[in-house]
Amino acid sequence: MSPIPLSRPVVDDEVKRAVAAVLDSRQYILGPESKAFEAELARYLGVRHAVLTNSGTAALWMAFRALGVKPGDEILVPSHTAFPTIEAVCFAEATPVFVDIDRWYGVDPADAVTKITPRTVGVVPVHMYGQPVDVDGVSALASRFGLWMLEDCCQAIGARWHGRCVGSFGRAAAFSFYPSKNLTVMGDGGLVVSDDDEIAARCRRLRDHGRLNKDVHSEIGFNLRFNDVQAAIGRVGLRSLDAGNDRRRALAARYREALSGLPIELPEERPHARHVYHLYVIRTSKRTELAKFLAGRGIATGIHYPLASHKQPAVEHLPPVSLPTTERAVDEILTLPMSPGHTEAEIDEVARAVREFFGG
Ligand SMILES: Cc1ncc(COP(=O)(O)O)c(C=O)c1O
Repeated sequence: MSPIPLSRPVVDDEVKRAVAAVLDSRQYILGPESKAFEAELARYLGVRHAVLTNSGTAALWMAFRALGVKPGDEILVPSHTAFPTIEAVCFAEATPVFVDIDRWYGVDPADAVTKITPRTVGVVPVHMYGQPVDVDGVSALASRFGLWMLEDCCQAIGARWHGRCVGSFGRAAAFSFYPSKNLTVMGDGGLVVSDDDEIAARCRRLRDHGRLNKDVHSEIGFNLRFNDVQAAIGRVGLRSLDAGNDRRRALAARYREALSGLPIELPEERPHARHVYHLYVIRTSKRTELAKFLAGRGIATGIHYPLASHKQPAVEHLPPVSLPTTERAVDEILTLPMSPGHTEAEIDEVARAVREFFGG
């Protein structure tokens, strides 16, 4: 069998035709395709405003700025996330305050409450691996302490909580369209969404040099604009996002059946959540050996993420913190291949190899 990658974006003729049409249109930056993609994303996610930008990291940074974050502000964030979540907090000149996770890898409201100080201004739930956090728990915490909530949905577009899309619960939310994501633009790309007119307007200014109009710059922004070639790709992808997420769920169910009974922990769906399996993450104390065994069979695996954010050298100036659930997870997690582009035969092949490793 040929090697099995962790994810495989679908590049079909419809995508190629969409790209060619934009090249011919000669409108490349924040043009009609970007505007249409923003309108379609807002409709899909059930929010008033969608503001495209050039990465998920940029989206987080713009949202922090638009929320009025200033030096000295503390923001509650899970350590168990992609480091860009933390980086954006720091880039906005605020201080990340690390919070532990629950058994579904989402920020734990019970731990978050113990980390609140008079300087705390907001909380960033990260919907890890495509699974919503305990949105009710985090929202209740935010309203009790007067905090804003900024959802990091970079791994979870299309995931739902009580039937409603993630990204529609916080004051704002950030998404990423990186190639492995459930919705990609075949390159870097990002999005801020919000129901708040002011936040959206400020993000539109920030992504274009703080411009109020063509000649007047009302604040220091940056060039974080989006382009029409990638918007056209995203528009094609959005049309099949729900089908792609359904396929991920079907492949996850196939894994669950094929891997049952082994001494590994399989991902579980949180009550009230609709998981979209951006990543299929299992747990085992034999992670290193299993990854090596699978690599020998041409099967790619990953670790998301092997060094917890609170232990990264970049933030060693922050006070040390102990996060037992995060630290245990980091040592055991292993990501198996998963994307709508994988075949059933490939998933079966991975599962067979895992069974073989465990002698089952
Ligand atoms: C949870 C999370 N937050 C933020 C980001 C940053 O997104 P981007 O790579 O588009 O800048 C990512 C991407 O990996 C992510 O997974």
